[in-house]
Amino acid sequence: MTGTLGNVGEFTAVDHAADASWFVTFMDVANALPEYAAVRRGLAGALGDLAGASVLDIGCGTGDDARELAALVGAGGRVLGTDISAAMVRTAAERSAGLELPVDFEVADMRALRHADGAFDGVRAKLVRQHCDDIDAADDELIRVLRPGGRLAVFDYDFETLAVDHPDRRTTRAVVSAWVDGHQHGWIGRGLPRRFLDRGLRDVTVTPYTVRLPFDFFRASLEGRLTAASASGQLALTEDRLASWWAPLHEAEDRGRFFASLTGFLLGATR
Ligand SMILES: C[S@@+](CC[C@H](N)C(=O)[O-])C[C@H]1O[C@@H](n2cnc3c(N)ncnc32)[C@H](O)[C@@H]1O
Repeated sequence: MTGTLGNVGEFTAVDHAADASWFVTFMDVANALPEYAAVRRGLAGALGDLAGASVLDIGCGTGDDARELAALVGAGGRVLGTDISAAMVRTAAERSAGLELPVDFEVADMRALRHADGAFDGVRAKLVRQHCDDIDAADDELIRVLRPGGRLAVFDYDFETLAVDHPDRRTTRAVVSAWVDGHQHGWIGRGLPRRFLDRGLRDVTVTPYTVRLPFDFFRASLEGRLTAASASGQLALTEDRLASWWAPLHEAEDRGRFFASLTGFLLGATR
C-alpha cells in the first residue's frame, strides 16, 4: 500500500476521492488478511442456513464477499451487493462478469434502501456502518428489509482497541486518541449489541475477532487520518513530531519486530 496517501475516512465518498483505486487496493489488502477469512466464515455462520436464501450485502465494496456468499446460497438463492460508490459497484460487477453465480450489484445508500419490508432472508453489513453519518437510519433500514425470523450479521471494529508496540507510550496514547476520535463512530464496535437489542432483535450474539495488522496495512489505516489531524490541530503534534512518532515503527518493521492489532465485534441476531 505504498504510493498515494489515502485516507480511510473517505470511504464515505469514494467516488469523490482523488484516487478511487486506492480504496480498492486497501480492501484487497484487508480481505487477504488471514483473520478476515475467519470473520467471513463467522458472518456466513451467523446468517444461518444459506441454501436457497436471499441475502443483501450492504456496503459490498469490491463484491468479493458477496461472490463467496453467492456460492453458499447456490442456484436457488440470490445475493445482492449494494454500495454507495459507483466505482465500487463497477469493480464488483467487473470481477463477477462471466461467473455462474447468483449475484448482482447496485448503487444504494444504506440509509434509504429501495427494497420492500422483509425482502431478504439475511442481511449482512461488514465494516460499512462506521462510514455512515446517520447510523440510526442505517440500522433501521437493515432491520426493515429483513423478513421476520431472518438473520442479521454485522461486523464492526472498535477503534479504541488499537494496540501498537511503540517505545513512547505517552505520545502513542495521544496519537491513538486522535485517530479514534477522527472516526465518525470510533466506538461503534462496543455499541453493537445495545443498538440491536434496543431495536427488538433476538438471539443476539457478539463475538470478538482480533486482527493482527501488518505494518503496510497499519500505515494505510492510520497515516491519512493522522496527517489530516496534525494539519487541523486536532492532534497536537507537528508534522515533524508525527514523523518522529512513525520512525521507531518503521525501524521495528525493518527488524521484523512491528506489532499492532485491532479488535472488531461480530453480531448475529434474528429479527
Ligand atoms: C471498508 S469498505 C468495506 C467493503 C466490504 N463490506 C468489505 O468488507 O470488503 C466500506 C464500503 O462502504 C461503502 N459505503 C460507505 N458509506 C455507505 C453508505 N451510506 N451506504 C452504502 N455503502 C456505503 C463504501 O463505498 C465502501 O465500499
